[in-house]
Amino acid sequence: MPTASGLENVIAAETRLSMVDGTAGKLVICGYPLEEIAPNATYEEALYLLWNGRLPNAKELKDFEAELEAESSMPDSTLLVLKLAAKAKVPTMDALRMAVSTLSVVDPKPADESIESNRQRAVLLAAKFPIIVGSYWQLKNGKEPIKPKAKLSRAAQFLYLFSGGETPSPEFVRALNTYLVTVSDHGMNASTFTARVITSTLSDMFSAVTGAIGALKGPAHGGAPGPALDMVFEIGKPERAEEVIRRMLTHGDRLMGFGHRVYKVRDPRADVLSAAAEKLYEKAADRDLYDLAKYVEKVALRLLEEYKPGRHLQTNVEYFTAMVLHGIGLPSELFSPTFAIGRVSGWTAHVLEQQENNRLIRPQSEYVGPRNLKWVPVEKRA
Ligand code: ACO
Repeated sequence: MPTASGLENVIAAETRLSMVDGTAGKLVICGYPLEEIAPNATYEEALYLLWNGRLPNAKELKDFEAELEAESSMPDSTLLVLKLAAKAKVPTMDALRMAVSTLSVVDPKPADESIESNRQRAVLLAAKFPIIVGSYWQLKNGKEPIKPKAKLSRAAQFLYLFSGGETPSPEFVRALNTYLVTVSDHGMNASTFTARVITSTLSDMFSAVTGAIGALKGPAHGGAPGPALDMVFEIGKPERAEEVIRRMLTHGDRLMGFGHRVYKVRDPRADVLSAAAEKLYEKAADRDLYDLAKYVEKVALRLLEEYKPGRHLQTNVEYFTAMVLHGIGLPSELFSPTFAIGRVSGWTAHVLEQQENNRLIRPQSEYVGPRNLKWVPVEKRA
C-alpha cells in the first residue's frame, strides 16, 4: 500500500464545520464564505455557529453570552499553576497548555462524557482561554492579574486583562473579532486532527484541547507570525527587502507566513486579514508599517517564485495575523496563544462532531526497519 507522506490529500473525517478549497483559495465556515462572516461576526456568534450549525437570533445570543460570562473567572488551581509558570518565565503558549490541563479540577460534570457535558466543557474552555492568556501576561510581567470585568465580550476581555485594565477601543475589538473568527476553524489542520484523534480514543475534552495546543505551537502550524513580524522589522525599509529576503532564501531559510500544505493559491484568510489590518492601521496604528509589510510581501512572492519555481508558495494566514495582532498592541509572544483563543472554538466543535459519530482513528505504518535480528546478551554486545 503506498504511504501518503504527511497524510497529504488523505480525507480523515467528514465535517460540517468548514470547507477548505486549496485550489480555488476558498474557505467556508458552516456555510458562510470567510469574506462574508469574518468582518461582520463577533467571536461569540462564530462559537455559536460552530457548535450549533446556525447563527443565533438576538435572544439566543444574549443567553449564550450570559452562559460564557458565568464561566469568566479564573479557577484558584489554574491561577496557582500560572503563578509558578510565570516565576519560571515559561513562554505563554506552554503556560496556556499547562493551565488548560488544570481545568479538569473545575470540570462541571466529572466522568460524564455525554455530548451535553462536553458542550458545557466547551463553554468553559472558550470563556477561560482569554482570561488565562490575558492574566498570564500580567503575571509574567511581575504584576498581579486584575479581575475580569463584567459584560465584556471575549475579545474585549482579553485586551482588558492583557493591558492590566485599559478599556480597548472599538477598532481594536473589531479587528480582534475579525481575527478570531478568521482562524476559528480550518478543516483538518494538524491541531484539529490531534483533537479528533484524542477524542476518538474516548478520552476527555480537556485532553483533546491540551493536545491541540501542543500541535498548534510549532512554527509549521501556528508559531509563524512572530518570526514573520521579525522579518518585516529586520527589513525596516523597502529598499532592504530584496537583499534580506534573497539572503534568507540563499541560506535555505523558510519565509514565515508563506506556503501552505493545502492552499496552492493565495490563502483567503490572508486577504481578509490584510483588509482588517489596512482598516486598523489607517485609523489606529502606524500606516507606514502596513505599507512596508505589503511591499515586503510583494518582494517575497516574487523571490519565492524565483528560488522555488513551481511550488506555488503564496502568502498564508500568519503573515497578516502578525500585522493585525501587532496593530492592536499584542507582543509577538502572544500571537500563537491568541490564535489558540480563536481556534478553541473549532477544536471543541470538532470534538463534539467526532463524538457524535465516533470511530477510533488508527492509521497504519509501513515498517522499514531490519527483520530477523538474533538476540545478543548484553555482555556480548559491542
Ligand atoms: N519559504 C521558503 N521555502 C518554502 C516555504 C517557505 N515559507 N514553504 C515551503 N517551501 C519550500 C520547501 O523548502 C520545499 O522546497 P524543495 O521542494 O526545494 O525542498 C517546498 O517548498 C515544499 O515544502 P514542504 O515542506 O514539502 O511543504 P509542506 O506542504 O509540507 O509545508 C508549510 C507547508 C509547513 C506551511 C511550509 O510552507 C512552511 O514551512 N511555511 C513557513 C511556516 C509557516 O508560514 N507556517 C504557517 C502555516 S499556516 C498555518 O498552519 C496556520
